[in-house]
Amino acid sequence: MSTADLTRDDAVLILDTAEEIARLSARPIKKLPTLRGRTVVNLFFEDSTRTRTSFEVAAKRLSADVINFSAKGSSVSKGESLKDTALTLEAMGADAVVVRHSASGAAYRLATAGWTSSHVVNAGDGTHEHPTQALLDAFTMRRHLGGFDGRRVTVVGDVLHSRVARSNVHLLATLGARVTLVAPPTLLPVGVGNWPCEVSYDLDAVVPDSDAIMMLRVQRERMNGGFFPTQREYSRRYGLDAQRMARLPDKAIVMHPGPMVRGMEISAEVADSDRSVIVEQVANGVSVRMAVLYLLLSGSESAIGPDSAEPLSAEKSKKAEQKGAAA
Ligand code: NCD
Repeated sequence: MSTADLTRDDAVLILDTAEEIARLSARPIKKLPTLRGRTVVNLFFEDSTRTRTSFEVAAKRLSADVINFSAKGSSVSKGESLKDTALTLEAMGADAVVVRHSASGAAYRLATAGWTSSHVVNAGDGTHEHPTQALLDAFTMRRHLGGFDGRRVTVVGDVLHSRVARSNVHLLATLGARVTLVAPPTLLPVGVGNWPCEVSYDLDAVVPDSDAIMMLRVQRERMNGGFFPTQREYSRRYGLDAQRMARLPDKAIVMHPGPMVRGMEISAEVADSDRSVIVEQVANGVSVRMAVLYLLLSGSESAIGPDSAEPLSAEKSKKAEQKGAAA
């Protein structure tokens, strides 16, 4: 639902499980039988390409059946409510519902209103949270930076409308990293002073102290006014171009959750540079989402054993299921 609720142990369990899964996914046959017979519904009320596809690939690699349900072309566009949609999916027997919605709190409502008994995974709710994005970002950072203690992560751009920024701030603080948000004052939310991070309006001052820099898209679709004078001025002060990138420490990485607007928050040169791990983030997203679905649906509490020949065996899932049923 939210990285703010995730303990350090749970976060590390998800990252470790994803690491094991990534290792298995490097094999020629990528599919694992773990979630055979389970149904995962992708319930997307907002446009999305990478997140929906990523969850779909993740569920399929675990052998679950996947139903893609998008609001466009569905009864939702005829006025059906979230409740009716949930009841319909429940009647069809979904084990997990992955939901994206433009309203903050939609995933929480779906999970707690008693409309469905299936697991609910938040794939982005309004401007609130996008927990699996933060988890895949953390996974990518851990691989490159070796850990989180004392690492400095800078998140730049439209923090006001960004569920990615919120989820990252909470998760990275829990994991021990130091986060600095950089944005014009108009693109910072009220109350940001209470978040577990630092805030700056000056990107040039923060760049040389960043082990990872994450650029955010300016979310025009959520804006109804002028938040900055011109696109050109925004890029000049808050965009990452080759000149700014050159002032990053040697091993620092450049990240972006996508979709990127090249020329706005990030130059094409930076996006395609050696320091950019943006494509890796997408690949890691599949492993992380597999880990989340696996941990939720198989009921397992432990990471997949590194030396096990059949780490995601049917027997293990069955045992976990019995354990879950007993609980
Ligand atoms: C983000 C989102 O939808 O919150 N994208 C994503 O999921 N990868 C960020 C954005 O839309 O800019």
